[in-house]
Amino acid sequence: MRLQKNKDLFAKIAQQYNSWYEDPVNRCMDRQEKAAVTDALKGTGYRANLLEVGCGTGHWTEFFLSKGFQTTGLDISDEMLRVARSKEMKSAHFIQGDAHKLPFEDETFDICAAITLLEFVDDPRKVISQMYRVTRPGGRIIMGVLNKYSIVGIRRMLKPGKTIFSDAHFFSFRELQETLSKFGRSRIMGSTFCLPWEWALPYANVIEEFGRLFVPFWGTFLVGVLFKDNR
Ligand SMILES: C[S@@+](CC[C@H](N)C(=O)[O-])C[C@H]1O[C@@H](n2cnc3c(N)ncnc32)[C@H](O)[C@@H]1O
Repeated sequence: MRLQKNKDLFAKIAQQYNSWYEDPVNRCMDRQEKAAVTDALKGTGYRANLLEVGCGTGHWTEFFLSKGFQTTGLDISDEMLRVARSKEMKSAHFIQGDAHKLPFEDETFDICAAITLLEFVDDPRKVISQMYRVTRPGGRIIMGVLNKYSIVGIRRMLKPGKTIFSDAHFFSFRELQETLSKFGRSRIMGSTFCLPWEWALPYANVIEEFGRLFVPFWGTFLVGVLFKDNR
């Protein structure tokens, strides 16, 4: 079972997790990922009620709060949640729980989001169906995943030694599309074309525009939006 493995894995790395953002290339990727998720959130109401599944150390929780959403973060790892809670985001609620059995009533949230969670779970379809269940009709589910067919994705998968990605399941554009379309109307965006070298940073914006438009299936970060239409 990956559940216990994940708990152990993320317990070990919780304290160092945020140091990833100290690197300028990673900060660039983070900015591009956030721009893609901002697009995915377009048209949702201000102060909508958002559940972030697999919130980890709360990096994205801060982002969702900054966009005006009432945010609840759920994660399996007590240690990751401890770091999230230490950030003292006053209006966020954090809950320990398993994405395969979300501890909420049906149709509780306007938006359900998960950023780099699906790669680590035992049963991605079960997790999506749980997120679908707790989303209100008229709401949406946003899934951010790492693309197996991207330069950064391939480098992460091939990195020698044990890393958090050693047992992760990376997605492809098509795989995410097929998985989400089983539940309803969906849209996939490819983003984060920032190359993994500092010398390329000055060209990052141009490459991003080009990549999103012409080769979205090669973006490092894929964002899927699943709409739960009104009945
Ligand atoms: C790669 S981290 C991403 C954290 C955060 N979303 C971010 O992007 O910074 C994956 C997170 O998913 C959590 N996780 C893994 N399996 C889970 C499960 N079954 N239920 C809830 N959270 C889970 C881990 O504890 C970890 O915090």
